[in-house]
Amino acid sequence: MKILVTGGLGFIGSHTVVELQNEGFEVVIIDNLSNSTEEVLDGIVAITGKKPIFEKLDLREKNAVQDFFKKYQDMSGVIHFAASKAVGESVINPLLYYENNISTLVYLLQELQQKPEASFIFSSSCTVYGQAEKMPITENAPVQQPISPYGNTKKIGEEIIADTAKVTNINAILLRYFNPIGSHPTTQIGELPIGVPQNLVPFITQTGIGLRQELAVFGDDYPTADGTAVRDYIHVVDLAKAHVIALQRLLDKQNLDKVETFNLGTGTGSSVLEVIHSFEKVSDKKLTYKIMGRREGDITEAYASTTKANEVLGWKAKFTLDQAMDSAWKWEQKIRS
Ligand code: UFG
Repeated sequence: MKILVTGGLGFIGSHTVVELQNEGFEVVIIDNLSNSTEEVLDGIVAITGKKPIFEKLDLREKNAVQDFFKKYQDMSGVIHFAASKAVGESVINPLLYYENNISTLVYLLQELQQKPEASFIFSSSCTVYGQAEKMPITENAPVQQPISPYGNTKKIGEEIIADTAKVTNINAILLRYFNPIGSHPTTQIGELPIGVPQNLVPFITQTGIGLRQELAVFGDDYPTADGTAVRDYIHVVDLAKAHVIALQRLLDKQNLDKVETFNLGTGTGSSVLEVIHSFEKVSDKKLTYKIMGRREGDITEAYASTTKANEVLGWKAKFTLDQAMDSAWKWEQKIRS
């Protein structure tokens, strides 16, 4: 079966391509290389022994998208990762985000709605919950008005898919990720942030390797056990596997609704200081860090209820924070060597 993976050379996309190929799917990747490189393909080949089809394509080019679907008419499913994801950049340039994340989704769905049936997996985010009232966060927690345009593209994206699925042959699963970290255990693929990393774990590993002087810990006055903010850090390989399971569910017509939603997290919250200590443990290094003020837009805590994904998808994250951190650290060392 042929599966289209948009953004398939990105961080989560590339790990998912590996898992799809390992499960025997034939993969076609679309990527515009805006935040990735073609060399990622070599990593995928090194792990799986198979080269996916790759088409360099920008989903904002509607005609190119139409031509693509004329060329590949035998696609069984689509996993849609391609999107911009920098929260701060989205505040500065909202229209870039609405074009990159919303126009592209519309063009894709316009093609898929013409098919007798279509299975669609969407990369969403726990950002749609904002600061949820209750922990752990279940899929029934209310969706809140997001703080950033990036977050809003995820909320609107979910709504567009739900409205479209109602009146077409599209079946969809929305996957709300918590905080993906780590890299493939082979260190053939991993996260490649451009410029100064905005996310905690790549900033930590870059500080550990000496690329950054010190980590700024954004706030130690949160109402949490140690005062630093709490998140649910999930190994990217666990996350990737969940995509394959969700896709298979749609292909097997096991879904109970036209659109289903699942949280993807470990169920465990870790504070920024706990993440730092995990790094220090797996690397056997002391990390230089300084407590700074809170970062605008940050929430206090978010960790997932994993019950639905566990019971309905039969999926559970297997890797611990230390294992994920260890893989992130090995990857950092590899790319700097
Ligand atoms: N943090 C620091 N120092 C840093 C970077 C991060 O202390 O240099 C802290 C943050 O304040 C936060 C935690 O580490 O408390 C995690 O921050 P990340 O930027 O790694 O992750 P976020 O939870 O802020 O953001 C992630 C995704 C976003 C998504 C959001 C949804 O990166 O794309 O979850 O909640 F929108």
